[in-house]
Amino acid sequence: RAEKIWLTVGLLTMFAFAVVLGVFAFVMGAQPPSDAQAMDPTKVSQTPPFNQPGLKKLGPNNYVADMTAFVFSFAPNRLEVPVGSTVTFNVTSKDVVHGFELVGTNVNMMVVPGLVNSATHTFTQPGDYLILCNEYCGTGHQLMAAHLIVK
Ligand code: CUA
Repeated sequence: RAEKIWLTVGLLTMFAFAVVLGVFAFVMGAQPPSDAQAMDPTKVSQTPPFNQPGLKKLGPNNYVADMTAFVFSFAPNRLEVPVGSTVTFNVTSKDVVHGFELVGTNVNMMVVPGLVNSATHTFTQPGDYLILCNEYCGTGHQLMAAHLIVK
C-alpha cells in the first residue's frame, strides 16, 4: 500500500515537472527576451535614448549612462559623476561587436550591434576609471577606450 502511494507521488511529481517545462518553453518561445530591445544597428543614432548618448541624472547619486560603440571609440568618451554615485550603463554598437570593460569593477559586457546590454555599478572610491573595449574589433581596437571620472 505504501508503495502505491509513493508511486502516485512520483508520477504526480513527474507530471508537475512536465507541465512546468512545457509552460516555460511556451512562454520563452512566445516572447524571445532580446527581441524587445533589438534595433537596426544603422538606426542606433536615430533611436532614443542612443540618439543622445550621454549621462542622465535620475536622482541624487543615481545616473544612467547611455553609450554607443563605433569603430574605434565610445560615445561619450568621458563621463563624470560624484563619489557614491550609482550608474547604470546601457550600451549598444553601431557597427560590429565590441566589449565594455570597466576596469577595477565587475562590469564587463559584450556590446552587440542593435542590442542593448546593461550593467549597474556604485562608485564608492574616487578615481579615473578606464572603460576598455576587450573584444577585438579591428585595427584600432587597442585605442578604443573611454574614461569615467569619479570625484
Ligand atoms: Cu571595439 Cu575592440
